[in-house]
Amino acid sequence: MRGVGNATIILPPLEPGQAQQAAAVLRAVRAAIAEQGGWLSFEDYLRLVLYAPGLGYYSAGSAKLGRAGDFITAPELSELFGRALARQCAEVLQQIGGDILELGAGSGALAATVLQTLQQLGALPDRYFILEVSAQLAARARARLARLPAELRERVRWLSALPQTPITGICLANEVADALPFRLFAVRADGFAERGVALDTSALPDGTWPDGTLPDGTSPDDTSPDGGLVLADRPADAGLTQELRRIATDLAAREMPGWPLGYQSELCGLLGPWIASLAAALSRGALLLIDYGLARHEYYARERSRGTLRCHFRHRAHDDPLRYPGLQDITAWVDFTRVAEAGTDAQLQLAGYCTQAAFLLANGIEADVADAADTVQRARLASEARQLLLPGEMGEHFKVMALTRGLGEAPLRGFSLQDLRRML
Ligand SMILES: C[S@@+](CC[C@H](N)C(=O)[O-])C[C@H]1O[C@@H](n2cnc3c(N)ncnc32)[C@H](O)[C@@H]1O
Repeated sequence: MRGVGNATIILPPLEPGQAQQAAAVLRAVRAAIAEQGGWLSFEDYLRLVLYAPGLGYYSAGSAKLGRAGDFITAPELSELFGRALARQCAEVLQQIGGDILELGAGSGALAATVLQTLQQLGALPDRYFILEVSAQLAARARARLARLPAELRERVRWLSALPQTPITGICLANEVADALPFRLFAVRADGFAERGVALDTSALPDGTWPDGTLPDGTSPDDTSPDGGLVLADRPADAGLTQELRRIATDLAAREMPGWPLGYQSELCGLLGPWIASLAAALSRGALLLIDYGLARHEYYARERSRGTLRCHFRHRAHDDPLRYPGLQDITAWVDFTRVAEAGTDAQLQLAGYCTQAAFLLANGIEADVADAADTVQRARLASEARQLLLPGEMGEHFKVMALTRGLGEAPLRGFSLQDLRRML
């Protein structure tokens, strides 16, 4: 599971192949820092350590998702998740027909379950598009979906960019918004600062080049866990300052206390444009986003003074993004108010916002457990359902948001038990 972390944690050591990859990623980070004049924005750092082709966490070879990887997502944990989500898809597809477009399909687990369930419900989409930026995960998903019966696998279409012609149907993204690169900021006595990544020059021996390599081309600290990188602040630029003032004004309007000095949090500037691009790809239907996140006033509450950044390495969660760059996942929670604003700016309707627990219950997860073939299977499903539903597990940290176009006023079934839209 992702999203719950522990600040002081001892991480397992790297395996031999991983140490080599870590060194290559560190070299790329050092070069980028040097190229940017000594300071790399955290957003650019994430772009590099998560997505640089052949190097970044999502682009290179580690297992990532699943028990053998670094974290478990809901579709990896249990088919119950995909079955419930498929019932929501069926309701929309039975009304308007069309396709499904899944962003960031990971190992393909969700696509497989959704297609199988929609077949049982007699509500298959015409096509099931997948846009996955990780070549390594796309290969894994292809292998998995190749095992589906022909009637299902022939509907799968792989995309390298969003469709030029907008689709009718459903756009799905589970735990993708939290994987978008984001900026870090801090509140200081002299104003807002943007937190980026620099070299800890105090730790480097004399004669080190600006990118942190020694004159003989080796690096003094390839073997240290953070490779001599440090978080470093710069005064926030005008755009970031304006955005942070807007958030602070929202909090003040709710009579919430301001941020204390030293407060650190994140801002995902890519979220709005990403939602706008998905809205442009949907001519009619629903965009369903599932992720761990909060309404803005909860996200930026004074008490959350270290923000929501979390790193995941072999099922250990912690909050040091400089450890093992390229080998660990780095995420932040989603500001669902920002998602809703971007959706409505793109003329989508905010049709629902609730906890994952409420959404899965409204889509019949309990019946799936009750219908188990025997007591052994029922016990397994009941245990998986608990992890998906309980507040201390994934039930409440995770939210579901529906943004729709041209679906009429009838509420979607997934939001019939709970409506948290007023929180946004
Ligand atoms: C945390 S994983 C979740 C995978 C899968 N949805 C699941 O629930 O198991 C995030 C996924 O989003 C993909 N991703 C990140 N940014 C993306 C983008 N802009 N478009 C499509 N996929 C993206 C990553 O490659 C990765 O597969």
